[in-house]
Amino acid sequence: MRESSSLSPQHGAADRSDTVLSAEHISKSFGGIAALVDVGFELRRGEVHALMGENGAGKSTLVKILSGVYTGYEGTVSVDGHPVNFAGVRDAEDAGIAIIHQELNLVPELSVADNIFLGREKLIAGLIVDRKASSRAAGALLQRLGIELDPQARVGALRVGEQQLVEIAKALSMS
Ligand SMILES: Nc1ncnc2c1ncn2[C@@H]1O[C@H](COP(=O)(O)OP(=O)(O)OP(=O)(O)O)[C@@H](O)[C@H]1O
Ligand SMILES: [Mg+2]
Repeated sequence: MRESSSLSPQHGAADRSDTVLSAEHISKSFGGIAALVDVGFELRRGEVHALMGENGAGKSTLVKILSGVYTGYEGTVSVDGHPVNFAGVRDAEDAGIAIIHQELNLVPELSVADNIFLGREKLIAGLIVDRKASSRAAGALLQRLGIELDPQARVGALRVGEQQLVEIAKALSMS
């Protein structure tokens, strides 16, 4: 993907203090294949962007760089104006960046609350999963996000769109 109007910031002298995520001069090759060539991207607080391009244009590659999947690339990624060098996905998550994959990554047999806190269970005495606390925390999170889902509902019984909301709530619960 080459830098184009859809990817390069066009803000001119606009205030950059509300830029939460930026990528500058990003290049990435796989063997001899250049996936990204000098690409720029800027995301400001409250913005929603659609990244569009034909198959093989480099969309996934850029998203993987921004979210810590790929650690080797040229250029600079910055969060809140500070250059970052994510060592992996966890690092990016700690900085508030997560990918919601098209293919869902939930456990259908478990509840909404259990899925949200999977691997980060709230424990009683460090041993027993505290389902009440987990359900309460999930309920508060869902309410804050305006998502009308029962924390106790089995994820496999939800519609795909609802399952995606669970994934989004889970990602936001990490930041
Ligand atoms: N792991 C890889 N190894 C080798 N080449 C790769 C790899 N990942 C991507 N590429 C190549 O890099 C280029 C960009 O691929 P990328 O998957 O980022 O495009 P995309 O815009 O996400 O495409 P699609 O719309 O098909 O999802 C393509 O030429 C692709 O073949
Ligand atoms: Mg892709």
